[in-house]
Amino acid sequence: MATYDIRTFGDPVLRQRALEIEDVDDKLVRLAEDMIETMYDAPGVGLAAPQVGVQRRMFVYDVGEGPSVVLNARIAESDGEWTYDEGCLSIPGLSWEVVRPQTVRLVGVDLDGDEVDVDADELLARCFQHEIDHLDGILVVERLDDAQRREAMRVLRKRALGEPVAVAEGRERRRDAPGREL
Ligand code: NI
Repeated sequence: MATYDIRTFGDPVLRQRALEIEDVDDKLVRLAEDMIETMYDAPGVGLAAPQVGVQRRMFVYDVGEGPSVVLNARIAESDGEWTYDEGCLSIPGLSWEVVRPQTVRLVGVDLDGDEVDVDADELLARCFQHEIDHLDGILVVERLDDAQRREAMRVLRKRALGEPVAVAEGRERRRDAPGREL
């Protein structure tokens, strides 16, 4: 197994809609294994194919119950509201309080072609919504309110220019929540 470099904010591959997967071949299975390895190495709890530069609708996740792979996933139902300090492996070190539905029902298929149908809440539900956003070319910064987004863009611009960013400006991730990025 190998690990990939995770693409980061500013890479155009993160802004494109990934394509449906028609066939599962050995190459795709290897990609899934390498994505799981990359996710653990990061460390994170979810990783979508565009984050390793592959425009296919596949993501991997593990919220503590072992790794899973989902292809062509979509949210069939969602309910409630939940606020979570949401970070992304493609925007390392930063996170924002983001409100999204608390529970979702995810449907898709796995690598064996079997149907996936999962009722998820809280972190797992957040993970599913975040990864599907990646497949649609949407980053967490697009889920922020106007004030959060202005601040996020200012910090990301400074970072891109190689300027130092003070911790308070960047809302650095909480030290007690390592490896929770999506
Ligand atoms: Ni992400």
